[in-house]
Amino acid sequence: MEKKTMRAVRCTGYGQPDVLEPVEVAVPAYGKSELRIAVKASAVTASDIFIRSSALPLAFKIPMRLMIGITRPRRSILGLVFTGIVESVGSEIKRFKPGDRVFGMTGFRLGAYAEYLCLNETDSKAGAMAILPDGISFEEATAAAYGGSLALQFMDRGGIHPDQRVLVYGASGTSGTVAVQYAKYLGTHVTAVCSGRNSELVKSLGADVVVDYTVQEQMEPGSQFDFMLDSVGKFKHSKLKESCRKCLRKNGMYASIDDSALVLSSAMLDRIAGMVSEGIIKPVLDRTYSLDQIVEAHEYVQKGHKRGGVAIVINP
Ligand SMILES: NC(=O)c1ccc[n+]([C@@H]2O[C@H](COP(=O)([O-])OP(=O)(O)OC[C@H]3O[C@@H](n4cnc5c(N)ncnc54)[C@H](OP(=O)(O)O)[C@@H]3O)[C@@H](O)[C@H]2O)c1
Repeated sequence: MEKKTMRAVRCTGYGQPDVLEPVEVAVPAYGKSELRIAVKASAVTASDIFIRSSALPLAFKIPMRLMIGITRPRRSILGLVFTGIVESVGSEIKRFKPGDRVFGMTGFRLGAYAEYLCLNETDSKAGAMAILPDGISFEEATAAAYGGSLALQFMDRGGIHPDQRVLVYGASGTSGTVAVQYAKYLGTHVTAVCSGRNSELVKSLGADVVVDYTVQEQMEPGSQFDFMLDSVGKFKHSKLKESCRKCLRKNGMYASIDDSALVLSSAMLDRIAGMVSEGIIKPVLDRTYSLDQIVEAHEYVQKGHKRGGVAIVINP
């Protein structure tokens, strides 16, 4: 018998993690151009923290609130990243069929903190999805979708080629861990900046040199880089970050993960799926939480020191 209600997490207002409450709501109905996904895992990302807390400088807060809701998120079920199994498809759906394992992002539609969500199959700011390859868990795939899309979108701008020197600033986060692996795959010499406790992790991902931003304020004199990816974002500063930028070669390029909006692209997700299948990218998963532990999960992620991704297990 078809389920009529589902477990979800509702955001009751902007604020600390306790604005999130597990609730029972109606299973969403799908239209003819939509498919319904039985969600297996979601993630708590930096984006989810921004949306829930609305703790942004005024210049960002106003446009953000106009877009997603003035006093609380209009779409009260948050969650940007999902993995799951296609449960039902509308009559116009061509790319997917019931039973397909999928992963993707919901964009402005949100809604991934729930047992079911509906999505269009075509890419838009309200979501993109692709087939999930075998050999990767639903939880790991959440880190691949978010970290992979962010890292590759901004690294692609660098036209990076073998034998160049690449610096990944913030190498231990969801996007940083993908960036290090991708830079290594491209045949570059990789310098990774993170705190000392993550040094062994980023070395295991392929970093040639690791610099601890908690003890070092200046990059080694003479260091030169062709490409620098700032994967912690523009809100996190350090003297070392500035010093790294000064070490770019004359034609070297700096790209911040905040340079432009994240593009939701199924072609990008397909590319990530291919790289995961070939073992080029191994998503790093820090912790998993259940839907009922959503408050704890947000408390942990908002500290800003997760390693790789944090997944929410839904319908294990
Ligand atoms: N362009 C867009 O549309 C878009 C969309 C989503 C997100 N973003 C950006 O992407 C960022 C999140 O990326 P993410 O999820 O990959 O990151 P993340 O996983 O949240 O990054 C956490 C990592 O950052 C490191 N870190 C924290 N403070 C640092 C500092 N001052 N210097 C160096 N490293 C530091 C931490 O390492 P330690 O524990 O070692 O300190 C931790 O491993 C967001 O903050 C946002 O700026 C952009």
